[in-house]
Amino acid sequence: GKVCLAYSGGLDTSCILAWLLEEGYEVICFMADVGQEEDFEAAKAKALKIGALKVYVEDIRKEFVEEFCFPAIQCNAIYENVYLLGTSLARPVIARAQISVAEKEGCAYVSHGCTGKGNDQVRFELAFYALKPDIKVIAPWRLPVFYERFAGRNDLLEYADKCGIPVSQTKAKPWSMDENLAHCSFEAGILEDPNMTPLKDMWKLTIDPLDAPEQPQDFTLHFEKGLPVKLVTDSKTYTEPLELFLAANAIARAHGVGRIDIVENRFIGLKSRGCYETPGLTILRSAHIDLEGLVLDREVRALRDQFVTYNYSKLLYNGLYFSPEREFLEGSIAASQKTVNGTVRCRVYKGSFIVLGRSSDTEKLYDMSESSMDEIGDFAPSDSAGFIAVQAIRLKKYGKKKIEIGEK
Ligand code: ARG
Ligand code: SIN
Repeated sequence: GKVCLAYSGGLDTSCILAWLLEEGYEVICFMADVGQEEDFEAAKAKALKIGALKVYVEDIRKEFVEEFCFPAIQCNAIYENVYLLGTSLARPVIARAQISVAEKEGCAYVSHGCTGKGNDQVRFELAFYALKPDIKVIAPWRLPVFYERFAGRNDLLEYADKCGIPVSQTKAKPWSMDENLAHCSFEAGILEDPNMTPLKDMWKLTIDPLDAPEQPQDFTLHFEKGLPVKLVTDSKTYTEPLELFLAANAIARAHGVGRIDIVENRFIGLKSRGCYETPGLTILRSAHIDLEGLVLDREVRALRDQFVTYNYSKLLYNGLYFSPEREFLEGSIAASQKTVNGTVRCRVYKGSFIVLGRSSDTEKLYDMSESSMDEIGDFAPSDSAGFIAVQAIRLKKYGKKKIEIGEK
């Protein structure tokens, strides 16, 4: 049979490729360009040398930004209050491109190099099955014939040597990484001790805030319906989504914005320590949240926070992007963002994102004279006395009871 393998060029997927060939499969390799730093030509040559029938390299950065990163900004997506879902966002767009190659090539199988303990296996496979329900998945790291034979890195290196797989001279990093244009993740290896502070030179998408410039950088972000439509710096204006996103990355990177180090709960029930750097997405999301303060209705915001943001983030994390609930929630995101139009003036400085001011030409929910402490305006202060008196009815009963039973 024919297999479409998600190939990275690294040791694991190179050995998986050789092993699939040894098992008698024909293998088409698939590589997605989601903005990671990678020598695609070298990886392609390597796969062909090992014996892949064909290698596809697809640039899916534009759809990744427009269909995945932008909606995440629009709904302030976040997992467990800290993780901006950089890997979770990329998996469905990669899976979709892989399935379309599998279809074009008539592959009955797809394969990947995810471990049996993580989130990524779930994300890839649920996407595969939703997009092509008759697809068959080969997950070597869950097959005893594979993991019993390749128990550790040394077994893989030995196999690579035997199969003539070139192993890059650079020493393997003592952790696992996943990079795309939204973020880079670092997990496993020496990071598995949650009390081990990451090495200074582990980080790769952001400068250390301690080494960031003494001079802050200011820029302006414009939003329409909750989506970033323009980024203006002293020297340039960006409007095209991918370029705007990359420009936000460059700004945040140079000032060390967007690093986190957390312990999270994986879908399968294990806890895991992860370090993440998410430069551009951090500032775009923070600016969006700030603008919502000015232009979004209080109750829409509260319902959106409790219901849409929470569930959209959770389904992304758990690999349920291609699902009826995602379609349903996306309708709610759009409905919540009709008034999110305006501009945020921003600053980055030594690891921090700072808002300098915000404005909107079209939305009038915030009325300076109505909110002012120095003006009477349309709103009579005496009306507030009744408001408080009515709110207090219930609380007076509650307080009276407490006093009666002598409870503090
Ligand atoms: N823990 C993060 C997540 O679940 C990052 C996963 C990184 N994946 C990887 N294959 N290194 O989204
Ligand atoms: C893996 O297990 O392949 C990476 C980590 C994850 O998927 O959560």
